[in-house]
Formats: sequence, C-alpha cells, structure tokens
Amino acid sequence: MTFKNPLIIASGPLTRDAKAVNRLARAGAAGVVMKSVSVQPREGYPFPRTVPEGGGFLNAEGLPNPGCQRFREVIRDAKKSEIPIIASIFGFSAGDYIKSARAMEEAGSDALEIIGLLRDLKEMKKILPQIKKRVKIPLIVKMGLRDNLPSIAKTAEDYGADAITAITSIPGLSINIRNCKPRLGSPTGAGGLTGPPIKPIALKNVADITRHVKIPVLASGGISNGPDAIEMLLVGAQAVQILSCAMSKGVRIIPKIVREIESYMEEKGYKTLTDFRGLSLTYLRYVPPSETFYLRQ
Ligand SMILES: Cc1cc2nc3c(=O)[nH]c(=O)nc-3n(C[C@H](O)[C@H](O)[C@H](O)COP(=O)(O)O)c2cc1C
Repeated sequence: MTFKNPLIIASGPLTRDAKAVNRLARAGAAGVVMKSVSVQPREGYPFPRTVPEGGGFLNAEGLPNPGCQRFREVIRDAKKSEIPIIASIFGFSAGDYIKSARAMEEAGSDALEIIGLLRDLKEMKKILPQIKKRVKIPLIVKMGLRDNLPSIAKTAEDYGADAITAITSIPGLSINIRNCKPRLGSPTGAGGLTGPPIKPIALKNVADITRHVKIPVLASGGISNGPDAIEMLLVGAQAVQILSCAMSKGVRIIPKIVREIESYMEEKGYKTLTDFRGLSLTYLRYVPPSETFYLRQ
C-alpha cells in the first residue's frame, strides 16, 4: 500500500461516513482509518461522549456503529475518494473478528486496522493468525498503553501483523466540580485522553516499538502540527495518524501539516522520508520499564 504523503486520518468521528472521507481526501489526507465496526450494531454510551480536556479531548463513545454488514456500503462509497481506505474492526471472539474482517475486505477496504486484541495476549495469539488466514489485505494491529508494549508489538508481528498503530487514547477521568459527577456519560465515568497532552507518551512508545519490530509503525497520539509529525518520523514511524487536531481545527490542518513537513525536508535537503526516518533512534537507548529505576548512567 502506498500513500501520497505520510498523513492519515485516525479512526473516529471524522471517518464515520463517505461524505466526510471525501472531504478529508480533498483536503489532502493520504488515507483514512474508518470508524471502528463490530458484527452487531452498537448504540454507544450516553452523552456527553466527548469533552475538552488538557488541550485535547477525553472521550467515551462506546464504539457506536451500524454493524459491519451495513458499513459495507459506507466503505464502497468511501472508495470513490481514491485514497487508501483502512477499515477498523473490533469484536469479542475470533468469529466476530473474522466476520467483520471478511465483510470489510469484500467491500473493498485496502487494509484492516484491528482494535481490542490487546485485552488478552493469549487471545491475540489465537485470533490474529485466524484473521490472517481468512483475508488477504494487510492487518494493522492498533495498540494502547501497556507495560512492555515493544514486546507485545513484536508478538503481534510474529503472529501475523503487517503493521502496528501506536498509540490509541490513554484512560483518563474528568470531574465536574459543580455537581461532583464525571463529565462523561460512560458507565464507568472514565474515557480516553487524546490530543496534545499525550504526544510525548506516544512518541516514547513509538520510538520503543520501532526498535523492536521490522514491520511499519503508524504513529498516533497528539500529533497536531508538522514538527510533531516530524518527531514521529525521526523515531522511525512509517507514517502518522491524526484525529484530535483535525476535530478542533478542521480539515485545513491537513495541508498545513503536509506543507510543514515539506519545508522541513527542503530546509534539511532531504529528498524522501527515508532520508530522515529513524535518525533520532541512534541517540536513544531502550531499557525495559522494570530496569529504568536502577539505571545509573
Ligand atoms: C471522539 C473519538 C472517537 C474515537 N473513536 C475511535 C474508534 O472508533 N476506533 C479507534 O480505533 N480509535 C478511536 N479513537 C482514537 C483515535 O483513532 C486516535 O488513536 C486517538 O484519538 C489519538 O490520536 P489524536 O491524539 O491525534 O486524536 C477515537 C478518538 C476520539 C477523540
């Protein structure tokens, strides 16, 4: 799969339907990851589902979606935008994942991003090879924060992942001090933090993962401008995914980020992304979390 630039729109509210995808494509996005779907339709959690927090967002949408059968139509329409369309799937069993994967492939998805697999590593080892056997399109495993994320990414690679997306939102909480209740309507009151506050965390994890796997890593988490995207490329990301900044600033942020990457390359005399991808890794050293505390020099 090839992209015209390294900027992909991450799974979320902006990729719920074909009209929105078209707008993103016209603005210059190189590709999109569609809103996640499951076999059965889901209503999602009570509102409010998204609140501003720490310069980014805290959200708990509860993965609302019309179910993979109905979503096939959305994929077919989105394909008309002529950029790579990556469907995103989640499930609660191997059977679920396979059904959604096949439906999305049949509708014309260029790749699949798979979420929810890290709930249980044993399950991932079981489910991933089964999906791999049943579809031909590339499988991208999306990861959230975990201890030893690099070794989990390596396991995903060993069990059939063609690429990794890291990281998704980070669990968080926000309380309304007037009524003392959580600001989100989710059953637990908590949600996932995204946007600028999570960028350094995402950057660290992307750097750790790219040194542990050979497959491409798509960086996600708090990228809001050209320099943020460049940092991710410097630690070895193949491409970047953005969402929160496009939600708060609109689609005009897309050409702006692409231009900022281009001017950086011109200024530094880089002809292609490969000229600087991973350059910063030589200045970094990976130490497993369990040993960091003891590091003296
Ligand atoms: C409102 C909202 C809804 C999201 N829905 C999904 C989803 O359905 N599937 C998914 O894999 N990620 C979802 N995400 C996570 C994003 O794809 C992305 O990984 C995360 O927002 C970090 O990137 P950002 O900081 O650029 O927003 C959602 C994020 C937000 C803010």
